[in-house]
Amino acid sequence: MNKTFIAVCSGLAFGLSAASAQAADGKALAQELGCSACHAVQEGLVGPSWQAVAKRYNGDPEKILERIKKNVNEGGSGNWSDTTGGVPMPPQPQAQDKPKKQKTLADWVAGLAE
Ligand code: HEC
Repeated sequence: MNKTFIAVCSGLAFGLSAASAQAADGKALAQELGCSACHAVQEGLVGPSWQAVAKRYNGDPEKILERIKKNVNEGGSGNWSDTTGGVPMPPQPQAQDKPKKQKTLADWVAGLAE
């Protein structure tokens, strides 16, 4: 296999994956920021699913970003007792002061509202 062939192939793969980059980004970020231990896309784990969060805030990315920031900085409790049984979310220091990542995550979550 020559180098040109490999370069063309990886170029193609990059082009294809760019379309789903945003989706991949959001999911990867949730993982990277340590949210995935308690939040999944569709199922409630310890915390509400991302989809449930998206729906509650009508897919509004600004509102969702606000809730992300608040919960990451201060933690949260009492808003999702019906789905969590009253378990609180502890503050997440590893995800604080990362406005760009928080925004990407919020945009991705917002897109999950149906
Ligand atoms: C240890 C488990 C845990 C981790 C880790 C966690 N969460 Fe949560 N999260 C929860 C629980 C439990 C709730 C529901 C709290 C409540 O009832 O108000 C919640 C609620 C939320 C909400 C909804 C807030 C609202 O007011 O509606 C958002 C947004 C959220 N989490 C974002 C995040 C993000 C972003 C991360 C990663 C940086 C994260 N969570 C990590 C457990 C967790």
